[in-house]
Amino acid sequence: MKFPIKPNDAFWPGALRRLIGAHLRKDPRSLLQGHQLSDKAFSQAVSNLRLGGTFKTTRPGRHTLSNELIRAQKLPEDAVILDIGASDGITSLELMQAINFSFKKYYVTDLFPEVHYFQKEQTVFFFEPQGACTLIADRFFVYYPQLSRLARLLFRKELAELEKLRREHSLDLKKVPLIHPALQKEQRHRPQQIHIQRHDVLQKWDGEQPFLIKAANVLNPGYFPPEKLQQALKLILETLPEKGLFLLVENRIPRRDESGRKIRREAAALYQKQNGHFQLLAKAGAETELQIKL
Ligand SMILES: C[S@@+](CC[C@H](N)C(=O)[O-])C[C@H]1O[C@@H](n2cnc3c(N)ncnc32)[C@H](O)[C@@H]1O
Repeated sequence: MKFPIKPNDAFWPGALRRLIGAHLRKDPRSLLQGHQLSDKAFSQAVSNLRLGGTFKTTRPGRHTLSNELIRAQKLPEDAVILDIGASDGITSLELMQAINFSFKKYYVTDLFPEVHYFQKEQTVFFFEPQGACTLIADRFFVYYPQLSRLARLLFRKELAELEKLRREHSLDLKKVPLIHPALQKEQRHRPQQIHIQRHDVLQKWDGEQPFLIKAANVLNPGYFPPEKLQQALKLILETLPEKGLFLLVENRIPRRDESGRKIRREAAALYQKQNGHFQLLAKAGAETELQIKL
């Protein structure tokens, strides 16, 4: 990350967004009142978080082409869908809507469906599951102490105190879910159909066998070394039944939207398991940029 200290929109005017685009961050402290945030704002606030070396970046509307690919397939009504690395799950909800909720079960999964935090007056410290502080937010800025020496210096007293409390097992951390309120609401209406749970793409899936697996922006060569990517793909292949589908999505190639904000174009590939191998069924978007070759 080029600038590991970013202005927080809690203080800096929104007009600054035109000038500095994505560098102006949605206040991550607003997650503590998640249900009061708009759909877009919740995903923007979640996207600030970097857990286990991976950003939770997501955005409504970023998978329209992939959703169309799946809609065109006319999935069986008893299909089970497994979405891996779904972040706040807003894109999962959009896929469910695109296929009119005609599936048996949809598992929305992520390695980090929640985050721990500690609040000291107006400053919030967010933590990795292993205990390291990953993000600090005050009224003015959003700081990544693991990436910024200046951030570590500015908060050295607080970080040392928090580390001491952690070692003494007396650090009282609170937990906030990172699941989008719109998805939580839909899940309450469809508890038999929608399941939200933790899952690691590097572990065997031990739930109901899915007919479709979606992995969007998680099997990223920047996140995993080649052998781990191969391991994840092997597990996905083994999890699917013969004729089962695998949707691989990437939003990597940058372009500017109408307001001049940098967004990333979607590229998607749909594979089918045939004779124990992945066969490409269909592609959409900037397909040549898919970085994982199967
Ligand atoms: C860039 S986000 C993509 C979110 C969403 N799929 C999208 O495309 O908008 C990557 C997500 O993968 C999750 N993740 C990272 N490592 C993972 C792992 N080993 N297993 C499952 N999910 C993981 C992160 O927590 C994060 O939410």
